[in-house]
Amino acid sequence: MTYNLLKGKRGIIFGALNDKSIAWKVAEAAHREGAIFTLSNTPVACRMGDLQDLAKQTNSEIIPADATNVKDIENVLKTSMEVLGGKLDFLLHSIGMSLNVRKKREYPDLDYNYFTKTLDISAISFHKLIQTAYKMDAVNKWGSILALSYIAAQRTLSGYNDMADAKALLESIARSFGYIFGRDKKVRVNTISQSPTYTTAGSGVKGVDGLIDFSERMSPLGNADADDCAEYCVVMFSDFTKKVTMQNLYHDGGFSSMGMSLQAMMQYNKSLKPDDSQDI
Ligand SMILES: NC(=O)c1ccc[n+]([C@@H]2O[C@H](COP(=O)([O-])OP(=O)(O)OC[C@H]3O[C@@H](n4cnc5c(N)ncnc54)[C@H](O)[C@@H]3O)[C@@H](O)[C@H]2O)c1
Repeated sequence: MTYNLLKGKRGIIFGALNDKSIAWKVAEAAHREGAIFTLSNTPVACRMGDLQDLAKQTNSEIIPADATNVKDIENVLKTSMEVLGGKLDFLLHSIGMSLNVRKKREYPDLDYNYFTKTLDISAISFHKLIQTAYKMDAVNKWGSILALSYIAAQRTLSGYNDMADAKALLESIARSFGYIFGRDKKVRVNTISQSPTYTTAGSGVKGVDGLIDFSERMSPLGNADADDCAEYCVVMFSDFTKKVTMQNLYHDGGFSSMGMSLQAMMQYNKSLKPDDSQDI
């Protein structure tokens, strides 16, 4: 079912790597809803990933950029406006990476060079993107800028490591710049806090299977998958959410409001030995 929600809208989608990526699903959904856009990822990801297939499928041009490099971002914004024929209506930041997670450096033993990179790639790049777009006046009035976050920004979830700190910063940037971009140019800035999802980035998190199973059991609606997330992003890019800004929007089947569900409690009880309860 399509509703033409994004007919006439132009955008840039950062972070599609393969068909598991949330950004990939957003590109498919935005295409279905009538948007035109460019795709961007690191030069390596553009060469090694499956992005060409998505570009073909959605009639999009690929513009490589390291999102931590302001010159690269300027080039993506400028080239996108040329290719698409005008200023932009939406930007998706779907970018995250932690070398500490990749190299299995746990939180009480972080490598600080990696930590700085985590923050730069996963959070400060969002500021760089917004600031560059703001200075270039690249976004139309009522445009929508989105990044993807995770509830580890508010609550500690074992194994999420320094990405939790990056997400907290990401959400703060959305609020701080959301005020300025909204005040000066009537552009929205939000983050969507998504359920844990099987993707390349998601699968790197320690204990991801348990995390996904736990939040599935805890959420009354079950986990939101990447396709569900894509549909929410489309709504956030559409004119139906013109006055939503500076928000962290939970898209998690209700997980963020739960304490303990019956389903999770039943599973938890199964794993207790008969006399364990005495020790709690
Ligand atoms: N998968 C989950 O469980 C989950 C849950 C909540 C939020 N998120 C967030 O969703 C976003 C997308 O992740 P995903 O799960 O689709 O995984 P993914 O691995 O498919 O996407 C991450 C993308 O970031 C890109 N990237 C890394 N370094 C970059 C750089 N320097 N410049 C530009 N791009 C760079 C990668 O190439 C990749 O395309 C991330 O911000 C992630 O933290 C994911």
